[in-house]
Amino acid sequence: MTQKSRNILVTSALPYANGPLHMGHLVEYIQTDIWVRFQKQRGHHCTYVCADDAHGTAISLHAEKMGITPEASVALINTERKRDFGEFLVEFDNYYSTHSDENRELSESIYLALREKGHIARRTIRQAFDPEKQMFLADRYIKGDCPRCNASGQYGDNCEACGATYSPTELKNAVSALSGSAPIEKDSEHFFFKLTDFQQFLQQWTRSGTLQDEIANKLAEWVDGELQDWDISRDAPYFGFEIPAEPGKYFYVWLDAPIGYMASFKNLCERRDDLNFDDYWKAGSEAEVYHFIGKDIVNFHCLFWPAMLQGAGYRTPTRVCAHGFLTVNNEKMSKSRGTFITARTYLDHLNPEYLRYYFASKLNSRIDDLDLNLEDFSQKVNSDLVGKVVNIASRCAGFIKKAGGQLASSDAEAELSGEFIGASDRIADHYEQREYARAIREIMALADKANAYIAEKEPWALAKQEGTQQEVTEICSVGINLFRLLMIYLKPVLPALVQNAEAFLNVAPLSWSDAGHLLQAGHSINKFKPLLSRVENDKVEAMIEASREQQAEHAAPAKAKPDSELAREPIADEIEFPDFAKVDLRIVRIAKAQHVEGADKLLQLTLDLGGETRNVFAGIKSAYSPEQLEGKLTVMVANLKPRKMKFGVSEGMVLAAGPGGKELWILEPHEGAQPGMRIS
Ligand code: 2FM
Ligand code: ZN
Repeated sequence: MTQKSRNILVTSALPYANGPLHMGHLVEYIQTDIWVRFQKQRGHHCTYVCADDAHGTAISLHAEKMGITPEASVALINTERKRDFGEFLVEFDNYYSTHSDENRELSESIYLALREKGHIARRTIRQAFDPEKQMFLADRYIKGDCPRCNASGQYGDNCEACGATYSPTELKNAVSALSGSAPIEKDSEHFFFKLTDFQQFLQQWTRSGTLQDEIANKLAEWVDGELQDWDISRDAPYFGFEIPAEPGKYFYVWLDAPIGYMASFKNLCERRDDLNFDDYWKAGSEAEVYHFIGKDIVNFHCLFWPAMLQGAGYRTPTRVCAHGFLTVNNEKMSKSRGTFITARTYLDHLNPEYLRYYFASKLNSRIDDLDLNLEDFSQKVNSDLVGKVVNIASRCAGFIKKAGGQLASSDAEAELSGEFIGASDRIADHYEQREYARAIREIMALADKANAYIAEKEPWALAKQEGTQQEVTEICSVGINLFRLLMIYLKPVLPALVQNAEAFLNVAPLSWSDAGHLLQAGHSINKFKPLLSRVENDKVEAMIEASREQQAEHAAPAKAKPDSELAREPIADEIEFPDFAKVDLRIVRIAKAQHVEGADKLLQLTLDLGGETRNVFAGIKSAYSPEQLEGKLTVMVANLKPRKMKFGVSEGMVLAAGPGGKELWILEPHEGAQPGMRIS
């Protein structure tokens, strides 16, 4: 069936430019990329844009910690991101930054249009202010003791210990998390977007089929109740865009972030003749706009954003597709368990298509959380992709090659092939509806049928008999044709694997409509090369161990600063003497120091405690060679619980200071100190 080609613009939420991509992010980008690749494969004109979300206090604080400007930090992260996304085969048509000229212009013009129409109000609000940093403090940057249970070190407006909620001004002994000084209260004029002007519009829009039912129902609490105006301004200092004609006032990051979708697209339009900004964004546009987002940012995308667009005279999104969060082994990702896995660490150990397949096999159109169960992950990839799908080609290819490399007709098995061809619309519908798990179930059921067919025909047994070559070629040609159909259906999920399969099959890039026919008799195939290797459990374990080690490295303040300038570390929270007394610090002599094969940062130390030796892995390779260390006295934490690392068990920790890199110094006690002496 020929379909009308659609013009579709797709976005994923713009990731904050203040840290590495991790598995949690990837659920969304992989989900979106599969949908985009599917649309392109169907022949639609589909464009996928994204950008770094570059503004706001979190981003400037991150840059400050790195000792560089926010612009430099954003640029660094942007390069890293593009590389990580590329290796996960997430293929944007444009990956930009919200800190761009296009975004500034669009943000200003949308704000001015809203102001012109009376949708912006000014009000003075009272807020916490850090007198040392000379800046207003968002709730999450204020910490103190819980007013209910006295738990110390509670941030913002809720207590993690007892669950109480309160206003940050009620925190006892409140201090600024940025400077440690006591916040004062100060007035400031803020700008508000009058969401209340859009109540009726939102009541209709949120129920127009644009949103998943569960999201629309949740939003009904607000749109049918009391909507609040939205504070869209922040005071200097703030990394963002200054509000036109309001010196010292900046757009709140969430005002210009979604406009970043438009800006990234606009930037792309400037170099693509087939795209025109107005065709996609003017009111009444027939192009489709799809936003993929996490369930935590629904308010921004389903209330503020459509209202802003409507108020400023633009079209509103066709659909907002929200997904749930990622858990690993059924728990929140955890740095200490090693399940906070960055995109880079994953890529250092495993094939990205394993993860794309695993996520696809579990994704649906609801907002359920998705669990990455690492045992299930290996098992599913090995059994489905290696054991079922690739196996079809590897079982059949050799026999065809042996007989000259040309396929025979598959007409003899018209019913089986017909079943595969007939599944095309159903599978396409599942992809379209973002029911990938269903698509994968259908595809694997077909793979089972192909394998059952080959197992029943036993071409390997037949091939041992005289005069059976034609029959063997026919059976294997059926197998190769079925494999080709599976490749078409799996292409949105496994683009690299399918590209290699296309080379093996000797066919042009497979489009969805290619599923309407089989390869003809006489078509030559190429030599089969293994398309995918099995997931090895020791690689999964090494990935977890590497994630745990990264956490340990980041937790050590001495390593936090890559910049050579020695930045001041804030003094940690006060502790009681008994807490200090628990730490058993000992003088030790470094009896032996050696390189650790495969470790970039670690040296293996044998420490002499005066009668007892300990094996310790220390992240000091950047600053010392083993020869410089042997014989030196230093200080170790002797009662740290032994930790199993990738390279062995580490039985303690040596103390070092400095910002990191070459500027890292182990502590060296006076010569009079003897190994084993306790430091008190
Ligand atoms: O929640 C977040 O990670 C935001 N950076 C998402 C922004 S999406 C869009 F609105 F820009
Ligand atoms: Zn409390």
